[in-house]
Amino acid sequence: MSETPSFRADRIDRADLDRLVGVLDLQAALPDIRRLRDWAHAALAVRPGERVLDVGCGTGSEVVVFAGSAVAVGVEPNPGMCAVAAARAGASPARFVAGDAYALPFADGAFDAVYCERVFQHLAEPERAAAEIARVLRPGGRAVVIDADWTAALQDNRVLGEALSATVTNPFAGDELPDRLAAAGLRVTDTCARTVLTATMIALLARKAAGYGVSMSDTPDAPLSFRADRIEPGDLDRLVEVLDQQAALPGIRRLREWAHAALAVRPGEHALDVGSGTGSEVRVFAAAVGSAGDAVGVEPNPGMRAVAAERATGSSARFVDGDAYALPFADGAFDVVYCERVFQHLAEPARAAAEIARVLRPGGRAMVVDSDWATAIVHPGDPEVVRALGESMRANLANPHSGRRVPGLLTAAGLRVVDLGSQALVQEQSAATGPLVHMMGEAGVAAGVITADQRDRFFADLATAAAGGGFHLSVTMFAVLAQR
Ligand SMILES: C[S@@+](CC[C@H](N)C(=O)[O-])C[C@H]1O[C@@H](n2cnc3c(N)ncnc32)[C@H](O)[C@@H]1O
Repeated sequence: MSETPSFRADRIDRADLDRLVGVLDLQAALPDIRRLRDWAHAALAVRPGERVLDVGCGTGSEVVVFAGSAVAVGVEPNPGMCAVAAARAGASPARFVAGDAYALPFADGAFDAVYCERVFQHLAEPERAAAEIARVLRPGGRAVVIDADWTAALQDNRVLGEALSATVTNPFAGDELPDRLAAAGLRVTDTCARTVLTATMIALLARKAAGYGVSMSDTPDAPLSFRADRIEPGDLDRLVEVLDQQAALPGIRRLREWAHAALAVRPGEHALDVGSGTGSEVRVFAAAVGSAGDAVGVEPNPGMRAVAAERATGSSARFVDGDAYALPFADGAFDVVYCERVFQHLAEPARAAAEIARVLRPGGRAMVVDSDWATAIVHPGDPEVVRALGESMRANLANPHSGRRVPGLLTAAGLRVVDLGSQALVQEQSAATGPLVHMMGEAGVAAGVITADQRDRFFADLATAAAGGGFHLSVTMFAVLAQR
């Protein structure tokens, strides 16, 4: 056994392992390491359901923290350390995989956030690890990289210098971090420094560019999210394009016609659309309520509100900032509340249902429309691939079975369900080679649920079917009319 334990994967032997784990545990208990990690978790602000990777995760402590709410994976080159991490994680859903920071075993854009603590100091080529972190981050994804800078300590301490050279490949890793991350295309947005023993530990929060201003066809593989808290400015054009394309499909047109007929909004009434997106339905309400009434859209995304307001020129439709969980209106303020395809993005849809009931006047009507993603059909395609893509897609939605849950949620909120309409949102044949199918395939590869070969085969199968009119892609939407 060597006297100096090494954290370098290629140097750890079995006998070193226990000592290394002991050192990591001691360091983890130091107040300044704890504070640095607290800062890192707050800065990364990982949201429920996000995918997080810890590169060089050691004993796996931070992966377990991330796994409390996110889908968390630790990558670690040393199989013994991986085994320690897995044993300590116990019942936590944290996952650990063998892999090297120079060649992360994940697809491009597979993670929303990456954490990497005290790894670069052990790497002869840290720029390769920085490039890999940037590669596996989705556009707009965040990274926290922490490392030590021993410059001050080394200045007049030769003994420390000798000891360090045996354990650390690069004692200036922390100092170099800003340049390393910038060179990898990550933009540093925040920094935190702490002195731990004799080293200055530097933590950087960095963000991968979101691809501002690019059109959907330029980035067919970028993940797309309707969750207000995840919409990046660069995604906005693509989201608007998708909403417009869907709004033109017969399934949505028919269901909206049915919904408006069932709600029968009258002149002078006050109507609200929760999560109003591009504002199309608020404009319909504005025409129905006339100048004596009021038609409002609540939308938390400022970019989407701006699009809606611009499109509403000449209409009395208005748009305000707000969240379905805390509608900015008084009890009983509305005769009618509409909410379409929003609940599927909410982890706590019961809160939104309660808010809809609260802002309705007694006798007021609500219409909540949503898809149930268990009804999604993709045809043709290898059944295994289709199943894997469906499961992966559902796993990324906060509330994938929203459609079936709406009547129960509205009833629990004190409303009486009086009617239910439904339509399948069936895509056209041209969608077989369009952005939606493209994104499904790319997201499946990024999530590691299908291989690149399976994706290519999937694309080819659908394109061939569409040429003969045999492609099918649909999901069923349900519209629930309820009364207070
Ligand atoms: C699929 S779009 C539907 C937009 C519109 N209702 C339609 O059907 O065309 C989902 C919308 O829900 C909004 N949204 C997401 N989370 C929300 C929340 N917590 N409160 C209100 N709206 C939210 C998004 O910003 C987005 O505009």
